[in-house]
Amino acid sequence: MCAVDTTPRIETRRLSLRPPRPEDAPRLARLCDDLDIVRMTSTMPWPYGLDDARSFIAMTAMADPRSDAAFLIELDDQGVVGGLGFSTGEAGRASVGYWVGRAWQGRGLASEALVGAMDWAARCWRKRVVAAVHFSDNPASGRVLCRAGFLYTGQVDLLHSRARREAAPARRMIWLA
Ligand SMILES: CC(C)(COP(=O)(O)OP(=O)(O)OC[C@H]1O[C@@H](n2cnc3c(N)ncnc32)[C@H](O)[C@@H]1OP(=O)(O)O)[C@@H](O)C(=O)NCCC(=O)NCCS
Repeated sequence: MCAVDTTPRIETRRLSLRPPRPEDAPRLARLCDDLDIVRMTSTMPWPYGLDDARSFIAMTAMADPRSDAAFLIELDDQGVVGGLGFSTGEAGRASVGYWVGRAWQGRGLASEALVGAMDWAARCWRKRVVAAVHFSDNPASGRVLCRAGFLYTGQVDLLHSRARREAAPARRMIWLA
């Protein structure tokens, strides 16, 4: 089904991406309470507790599905192993972010999830342009974005990281449908 709805689902070879549910909060909190994950994002807090997971899930449930789409990444029979989300900023451009739990990194899962999500964004969500940014000290994320068809714009900005409690250089990327 390709209509934009409030419970989109994306299937790839090994993964299912589906909206977060309230009962996901404990698992989300366990996986995200990892400084090496949250420090590579701009918005995730450190430490990351159950209340953070609950507020995140509540926020995603209230978001406008035309401008925001949040997914948890489930691996085969192993349950939730990561997250991926699109949000639309004031300039009206969608951007994407994601993470994979430490125990499941290095198996191509972020790449597989992002390729599936960009296919969904183009075909079902009708997006023609999606932005992304990764901290310069996070080349693994740059690889994931390149594999999903993102290109470097050449722009490097200082971006605040909530978990680092400071700004760090970040490389901007763009994807065109
Ligand atoms: C970045 C992250 C999502 C990657 O998840 P993953 O499932 O391990 O990613 P994949 O296995 O699909 O791909 C990782 C790629 O990075 C490469 N890589 C890993 N460590 C690297 C490093 N130190 N330098 C350069 N490349 C690296 C891998 O070789 C792989 O590329 P390849 O497939 O071309 O060989 C995961 O490490 C993570 O959650 N990090 C913290 C949160 C984060 O960075 N989110 C993105 C914010 S922009």
